[in-house]
Amino acid sequence: MTIGLFDSGLGGLTIYESVAQRIPHVPIAYLGDNENAPYGVRDADDIFRLTCSGVERLWDVGCCLVILACNTASAVALKRIQESWLPPDKRVLGVFVPMIEVLTERRWGDHSPPKEVKIKNVALFATPATVASRAFQRELASRAIGVDVEAQPCGGLVDAIEDDDYILAEALVHSHVEALLRRMPCPEAAVLACTHYPLFQAAFQDALGPNVKCISQANLVADSLADYLNRHPDMLGTSSASGFFTTGDARSVSLKAVRILRRKVEFESV
Ligand code: DGL
Repeated sequence: MTIGLFDSGLGGLTIYESVAQRIPHVPIAYLGDNENAPYGVRDADDIFRLTCSGVERLWDVGCCLVILACNTASAVALKRIQESWLPPDKRVLGVFVPMIEVLTERRWGDHSPPKEVKIKNVALFATPATVASRAFQRELASRAIGVDVEAQPCGGLVDAIEDDDYILAEALVHSHVEALLRRMPCPEAAVLACTHYPLFQAAFQDALGPNVKCISQANLVADSLADYLNRHPDMLGTSSASGFFTTGDARSVSLKAVRILRRKVEFESV
């Protein structure tokens, strides 16, 4: 039994940590497409093609269930994957819906019509491709009415994190938050809809101020996955492969991963 986690690069490790803590008995195969990161500046066809190829590599190591631990792939490619590409014995899930269920006070499987919810003003920080897809607004509108979403494409932030330039990353967080607050001065909640951004959650919180609640995507995804596996234990499959895989240079990716996980892991090139 094993599950696959896929991201364009290292950001998905923030999801990996929460999932590994939540379901420690389940082996995880993690794949970062570091060779082709960032995805957030690519067009939809490119993101679809690269995501499918990453998912196929995780099937090759024995996963039946792959989580796109990448908002860009979830926003841009997941619907198309589920509707037109996925074989019947495999599953691919994204990281968007668990977050939206919490914002809209819904439980999984609640398909009742959209209703009014407590939260009215949401700040969304995401990659340019995720913002352009409007997937967040689409998923939200199918569950809630009267919620105003202001989206900020955080150009450059993923590159700075992947390049290990944490000073630039922090400066970019501040300028993107300021740009958003000029358009929506008082959001109630902020959604960090890119798996790289929680690494700078403190900087986001600092720039947003103490009255804005940052939604933690990783824990919500881990809870939702544990719930899914209780309902679908068959999706764990029979393989017990686990490990860290990259399409990039294993040595340099392993070094960068230490900064995120705060422990040594060995990536293997695929
Ligand atoms: N960390 C990914 C996300 O959640 C991808 C960012 C990128 O590759 O641009 O969107």
